[in-house]
Amino acid sequence: MNKLVLGVMASGRGSNLQSILDAIEKGTVPARVSVVITDKPEAKALDRARAAGIPAVCVNRKEYDSRESFEHALIEVLRAHGVELVVLAGFMRILTSVFVQAFKHRILNIHPSILPSFTGADAHSLVLEYGAKVSGCTVHFVDEGMDTGPIILQATVPVMEDDDHDSLAARVLVEEHKIYPEAIRLYAEGRLTIEGRKVRIDRN
Ligand code: GRF
Repeated sequence: MNKLVLGVMASGRGSNLQSILDAIEKGTVPARVSVVITDKPEAKALDRARAAGIPAVCVNRKEYDSRESFEHALIEVLRAHGVELVVLAGFMRILTSVFVQAFKHRILNIHPSILPSFTGADAHSLVLEYGAKVSGCTVHFVDEGMDTGPIILQATVPVMEDDDHDSLAARVLVEEHKIYPEAIRLYAEGRLTIEGRKVRIDRN
């Protein structure tokens, strides 16, 4: 089977990037990462990419005067590296339709809550403030909304009475590192079909 070409975009630590690289290395995901892009020069994800021998590119948001020109630069790098599927792994920027249309139905994101609840940049704090008893994570296709695209996989974890932001985030992260590589595998094997809001998974 031909390997799916991934472009991973991240803003920080890059632990999800690492889980994807590890799964590829183990042979469970028929894909390869052709480029890692960050919007910040200090993002640790760049070091992880370099350590794996993968081109690491910073498209520094601060060097662009509009979201559109920034996104055109991202698209250019992704196309130059032959990217077929864009994987957002802690990429902390909302993408406009310029980007979303350029890779229509070919962008995945992971969000650390059970969508559609607790969207946005600080899901764990919202979960704790609300008093929810379960949380988790969601891998979804990206559309023009914030955390609104069709859902591929979700995993849940309990919220404990003595949880703080970091303890909850750590419990959710363990699940993120399982379901993101799994969702990419399903995509790479051609097992996902988008039907309106729903994603049908062919598990045969
Ligand atoms: C993860 O919790 C992910 O769900 C969210 O941002 C965080 C990124 O973590 N979108 P990392 O950079 O992959 O370690």
